[in-house]
Amino acid sequence: MVLSREDIWNYIGCNEEFEPSGCDFKESDLVTLDEYDRCGPAKLSLLARNYFLGAAGRRTTYKRNKDAFDEIKIFPRMLRDVSKNSLGTSTLGLKVDFPIGLSPVALQELAHPDGELATVAGISPFRTIMILSSFASTLLEDVGKAAQNSSIHLWMQMYIFNNRSWTTTLIQRAELSGFKGIVITADAPVDGSLTCNGRNGLLESGSADMKNVDPTQLKFSASAVFRDITWLRSITKLPIIIKGLLSGADATRAILAGASAILVSNHGGRQLDGGPGNDRSLARSSGCCEQTISS
Ligand SMILES: Cc1cc2nc3c(=O)[nH]c(=O)nc-3n(C[C@H](O)[C@H](O)[C@H](O)COP(=O)(O)O)c2cc1C
Repeated sequence: MVLSREDIWNYIGCNEEFEPSGCDFKESDLVTLDEYDRCGPAKLSLLARNYFLGAAGRRTTYKRNKDAFDEIKIFPRMLRDVSKNSLGTSTLGLKVDFPIGLSPVALQELAHPDGELATVAGISPFRTIMILSSFASTLLEDVGKAAQNSSIHLWMQMYIFNNRSWTTTLIQRAELSGFKGIVITADAPVDGSLTCNGRNGLLESGSADMKNVDPTQLKFSASAVFRDITWLRSITKLPIIIKGLLSGADATRAILAGASAILVSNHGGRQLDGGPGNDRSLARSSGCCEQTISS
């Protein structure tokens, strides 16, 4: 059976070791994202591979996201003066060299012993935004220190937890460590159910270590509502960014409640399966909020 790049890992069983060909990282000259997508997971333990590649349910939304990327067509215009180029822009007052940042990914030590510090080192030549997961395997204070002498801007991701004082403490720690934004993930009122038992498998095996929160105590608040954004607004001066909204209506409510921005995202299809791919959600959300602010 010949499998295309996005198919491979969908067909490999949860307990099946698999080494795709041409993936010797020293010998092969890996260049494209597709090549890393195909070869990267083979470097991980089975548990970690299942966690990083996990998606919810039948993986429908996960696949829709990938298809949406393949569908993007760039229509170039010619004979414009491109001798001087800049992809630089700014987001919430922060200057960046290009309009791509790093979304929060938990437990990065599973992929590399240096975990989130390796990510900081990898992107430190660039002026961009890195969002640190509250489920990181590195103390947020250490990430803050590592980023201090680089041009990286850090934002701290978290949830609204059942225990509101935990949420407050985490925000205060992020403020003290130089983080410049608070990202609240809104699409996880309950744990997603990942293929191959994803994160649960890791927690059961004890191989995952969250350094900033205590996973035995911690619960997402299933009762969180837009009003809670107004509460968050009252306890921090940092901009609040709401991650995981999929419609203009929700985006508008978030901004009216006190958010400074939203991240249109379906969590990579890892939370609720069956929803639209990112292309549809972007289309439904774009343009909503400028109207809200000006009206
Ligand atoms: C292994 C893994 C761990 C993730 N951990 C988190 C997390 O801790 N918090 C969070 O909000 N999102 C988490 N995500 C979701 C990503 O931040 C992001 O939403 C997803 O990769 C899809 O990208 P997009 O949001 O740009 O569409 C994780 C994704 C992966 C693949």
